[in-house]
Amino acid sequence: MRRPTLLQTRSLPEAVEARAARDYEIRRPEGPDRALDSASLLHAAEGCEGILCAAGDALDAATIAALPDSVRIIATFSVGTDHIALDAARARGIAVTNTPEVLSVATAEIAMLLILMCARRAGEAERLLRAREWMGWAPTQLMGVTLEGKRLGILGMGRIGRELARMARGMGMAIHYRNRTRLPPAEEEGATFHAEDDAFLASCDVLSMHIPGGEATRHWLDSARIARLPRGAIVVNTGRGTTVDDAALCEALRAGHLRAAGLDVFTGEPAIFEGYYSAPNVTLLPHLGSATVETRDAMGLRCLENLDALLIHGTEPPHRAA
Ligand code: 8YV
Repeated sequence: MRRPTLLQTRSLPEAVEARAARDYEIRRPEGPDRALDSASLLHAAEGCEGILCAAGDALDAATIAALPDSVRIIATFSVGTDHIALDAARARGIAVTNTPEVLSVATAEIAMLLILMCARRAGEAERLLRAREWMGWAPTQLMGVTLEGKRLGILGMGRIGRELARMARGMGMAIHYRNRTRLPPAEEEGATFHAEDDAFLASCDVLSMHIPGGEATRHWLDSARIARLPRGAIVVNTGRGTTVDDAALCEALRAGHLRAAGLDVFTGEPAIFEGYYSAPNVTLLPHLGSATVETRDAMGLRCLENLDALLIHGTEPPHRAA
């Protein structure tokens, strides 16, 4: 069997690397395991037919326009495609694929983890212990709020949002959601659909954000929308950092309009908006959404399904984003 040449930009789980090396001639850039900038990516892609990339790799319009003609497919190890200029890829006839479905439960788990950490002040509590400052149990110490009976507002009711709704129902939360389209009743399972932002935001004791990144959603959560949230609301984001106006969120946390925020994604990762470091009521995670062994294996194998289809079998990749 012919072994197509594949640029693999990042280190991947063992099972995925073994499977990739079986069927492809693998190119891995030298040096530490970091997202590739445009120059390194173009240099490494020379002579490759496929690129197996991840979030953070510089696949902007200029880079895609300059890719060697040999490149036929970009398979991203992510469901999000905001790091790839899809129009530029289309213009060059380069297929782009992603990894839907397999990370929905893992990402919803991280959203639920952040919701619980925010509601029960787990970050503050752990920091207290680690600072060796705990003086012992006290009746009014670190009181949080219970989730039972509270309203969870899900912005973006795709697969991840629906998994989170399933988990939250089990905790006794009422589900509200804002989505481009209303779900069929069987999938809604009693959740309340909102066709407008204001009514949706007013219904969120907890707001969990699951919308894609990119220009269309930049700073969706700005000071005006934050003001519509009930006083004492919790905000959690496991989608993309760019959807939140960080300065506005920090100010609302400082002023007490919001109780807490839990963030797994950030604008300009791995840099983080400075104000978050000193805000006691913010829980910060380093983009752990899909980071389980099961999920990362499945994401890698999904990338290979897409690459195999186009480069080995000459068929349509099953998970095409462009
Ligand atoms: C990925 C994610 O692990 O799939 C996505 O879009 O945000 C993450 O869970 C990460 O982006 C790796 O490419």
